[in-house]
Order: sequence, then C-alpha cells, then structure tokens
Amino acid sequence: MNNDLQGQGFAVVDAPEVNLSSVAGSFELLPVDKYLASGARSRRFSWFAGTPQDPVKLPHKLFYQTEKYEGRPDIHREFDEIDSSVYKDENFKQLLEIYVHETGINMANTPIEVHQLRISCGDDFDGDPSPEGVHRDGCHYLGVFVVSRDGVEGGETSVHLNKEDGPIYEGILEPGQFLFIDDEKLMHTAVPLTTRTGLSIAHWDIFVFTAGEHRRKEN
Ligand SMILES: [Fe+2]
Repeated sequence: MNNDLQGQGFAVVDAPEVNLSSVAGSFELLPVDKYLASGARSRRFSWFAGTPQDPVKLPHKLFYQTEKYEGRPDIHREFDEIDSSVYKDENFKQLLEIYVHETGINMANTPIEVHQLRISCGDDFDGDPSPEGVHRDGCHYLGVFVVSRDGVEGGETSVHLNKEDGPIYEGILEPGQFLFIDDEKLMHTAVPLTTRTGLSIAHWDIFVFTAGEHRRKEN
C-alpha cells in the first residue's frame, strides 16, 4: 500500500507508463449523464471483480449513493456500462493494477467500481466536476485518474479534513496522474473547469475508481 495514502490519507501517483491514447477515443462516445441538468457531464459505470490482469465485469447494477455520506437524499442512478473495448484494454488493466497496488484492495473480494467520465465546458458554460461541493464518495479508497485535459483551464482538485476547513491538498492533476484518497478519513471536491481562451469547447476526461462501498451499507 502507498505510504502517503496510509499516513496522510491521500497520495498523488504518476503513471507515465500508461498509454492514454488507447482509451482516449472511447470518451468521445460516452452518453450524456441525464441526472445532471447542465448536460455538461457524460459517463459510463461498471464494477469489476477478478484480478487487474483479468477483470470480471459484474452484472449491471444501479449506482447507489446514500444520504449519510453525500449530504443529500439516497439516490440510485442508472448509467450505461463501460465498453468492453475499454475494460479489456491493456492500459486500462494497468490502471486497475496501479489502483490495487497503491490501495492494497483485493478486488477478488472487494469489487472495484469504475466511472468513466467526461466533463465538458464551453465559452458560455463552465463544467462543474463536483456540484455537491466538499463531499465523500462513501467508499474506502477513491482513485481519480486523469486521461486528458483537452483545452481545459482550472479544475483544481482538493482534499479536506472536513467541510469547514480549507484544503490540505490542492492541485491540478495532469494527464497520467492518479490521486488516491482514503475516503473514510478525508473529503474532496474540485472547482469548475473553464475553456482556454479562444476555444468554444473543452473536455476533462477521467476515470474514477472506488472500492469498499459495502461499508456504507453496513453502517
Ligand atoms: Fe467525489
């Protein structure tokens, strides 16, 4: 397990060995997230057991978030599943491998939920990666991996001890970087994205990995 993640509850990990081009195109085909009124977010969602080298996609399920952790009513949302061309891709498997290595999660008995997300912004609208503000995802370990920041400015991601205090980490995650957070200890958010001057539209493409969601249902 990553020492920083274990000690301070978060860690930034570079993963330059992951070839992002093999999965980048799949973000163009993500369906729009119908639960966000702005239409500025597209996503797919699946969950996996097995091993990083041989992930087993588990049966389709609704994505559940409870009031206890997110500060809003219990919600179930349904998203299309991640395409097999993505989860069978060797570079995607490398991301699973890094997630497992850094968190110490055993995905054979603790499935990994994966959100494939594109947040868009334009010259007349901002993209908001975290409309709920400082929050928890309701899992044990959260991993955010940036695939692309195509024409995007801003979007600093921050990590907080609680809702009230300022960040203990704040930074722009670059493509090829992973941010890991112990979601039981710490909270997180990200500020809205804007387009670089002169561009009409820009995109932030990320994978969000979470595991240990069973804890939020047991508590
Ligand atoms: Fe989150």
